[in-house]
Amino acid sequence: MFRVGVITASDKGSRGEREDLSGPALRELVREIEGEVVEYVVLPDDRDLIADTLRRWADDLQLDLILTTGGTGFSQRDVTPEATLAVAERHVPGIAEVMRAESLKVTPKAMLSRATAAIRKYTLIINMPGSPKAVRECWQAIAPALTHGIEILKGEASECGTQ
Ligand code: MTE
Repeated sequence: MFRVGVITASDKGSRGEREDLSGPALRELVREIEGEVVEYVVLPDDRDLIADTLRRWADDLQLDLILTTGGTGFSQRDVTPEATLAVAERHVPGIAEVMRAESLKVTPKAMLSRATAAIRKYTLIINMPGSPKAVRECWQAIAPALTHGIEILKGEASECGTQ
């Protein structure tokens, strides 16, 4: 079982002015890779708050995977990628590349997401755009390789094999 954390970055969501549908959607989706959401929080679009939470969940809780939703666009308040890069020890460009490439088949607006992915210690961190629709589309794009990636990160798989 992978231990997963979900951070929804949303000013309105954090003030209770908008229901978060993306976090609950991810709770269901991660079951496809035997993941369980053990931490979930809705935070304002605040770089330091998001970065502190990422750090704590990676360093203290040692979660296997942290998925963020929202705050990847062009609005002045969108700072989730910057918070992720602030805690990143290693970058994982391929994950965001695939999310954008697959999403572009659905909408040209996919190019407006600045989502990134990174590794901190034994934790993989992946940004996704904020809408539940985008979350599902991005999840579909990356899910097939996630289990293998997380197992390698945790040292539970070393051979990539030929599949
Ligand atoms: N990616 C997918 N797969 N589907 C979408 O509907 N919406 C885009 C983009 N990525 C979208 C998507 C839009 S409209 C925006 S503005 C950016 O993600 C940023 O979204 P965010 O600010 O909620 O993170």
